[in-house]
Amino acid sequence: MITLGIDTSCDDTSIALVSGHDILCNLVSSHLIHSDYGGVVPEFASRTHTRLLYPMLRLAVKTTGIPLSKIDLVAATNGPGLLGALLCGLAFAKGIAQGTGISFRAVNHMEGHIMSLRLSHPSLRPPFLALLVSGGHTELILAEKEFSYIELGSTLDDACGEAIDKVGKLMGLGYPAGPRVEKLALKANIPIKLPRPNPRDLEFSYSGLKTAARNYLAAHPETPKADVAAGLQEAAFDHLRDRVKRAIQAYKLTKVGIAGGVARNMTLRRKLKELGKITGFDLYVPRDELCTDNAAMVASAGAARFTKEGASALDCGAFDRAPLGVRAA
Ligand code: KG4
Ligand code: ZN
Repeated sequence: MITLGIDTSCDDTSIALVSGHDILCNLVSSHLIHSDYGGVVPEFASRTHTRLLYPMLRLAVKTTGIPLSKIDLVAATNGPGLLGALLCGLAFAKGIAQGTGISFRAVNHMEGHIMSLRLSHPSLRPPFLALLVSGGHTELILAEKEFSYIELGSTLDDACGEAIDKVGKLMGLGYPAGPRVEKLALKANIPIKLPRPNPRDLEFSYSGLKTAARNYLAAHPETPKADVAAGLQEAAFDHLRDRVKRAIQAYKLTKVGIAGGVARNMTLRRKLKELGKITGFDLYVPRDELCTDNAAMVASAGAARFTKEGASALDCGAFDRAPLGVRAA
């Protein structure tokens, strides 16, 4: 089965063609316009998606040599994400389905991120813990059985990547700052000490850390930026490591996957690998290009759902909040 995947949940327009675990193409266009503003401007994201979708579809067809007539399913993200941005990809996908008669499937973006793990590691089977960590989300999900998820915790305020991006912006690193913070931190001598967030249970919180880093920058302008970058990463990732540790102990798990843009960070991977050695879990990380938002993961999740449950109705809506599974008691 060949699936056309479409993701426009935030500031990347992505179109992919996927057949089983084979990614035939996975085009991602990250909108540069937002870097002028130090964060995503939702209206610009929507306009850019609208402009890019059709030429990117043509490019996907041209590079793979697969015409629309050979495509069996069109799958598009319908939440969570920026509502206007989601609607662009969703309407485009529905238009293709309506015009060609190809089946249509709406996809939860978070299930897409979980599928990015399984695209990279086809042998990975539930139960496993998924830490989804990006500029838009910080969530701990228990993939309990196939298509059955329990949301164990999520951020009470900022997402992890969002907090790093915002502090990086104050340090003059542009947007998105995450990869530059990582590079800068490699040059650190004495990482600064920042408070570790500690909200209840398996929840996350990043706004306090962001404020502490901002106050530190204002009070200590002479501190080398590399030391600030390293201290910021340490505090941000220790918090993630702490919640993963709690969750695997509480649910007795032996497999942990991380996905989302921040999963590209080598310091985070190292911290979790070390934790895995001590506490006895294997760490799974998607291929780099599948960590950040992409449509291959959406195609893969859409194909799996379609096989299980059939097509979605063409009048289905888009949702800025769309929980994946039930909340842990
Ligand atoms: O998953 P993604 O493409 O989009 C969403 O935010 O949903 O993730 C983008 C986020 C940004 O916050 C970016 O700074 C962060 O992922 N990121 C990183 C790295 N690469 C991307 N953060 C830390 N280290 C990296 N190497
Ligand atoms: Zn995402």
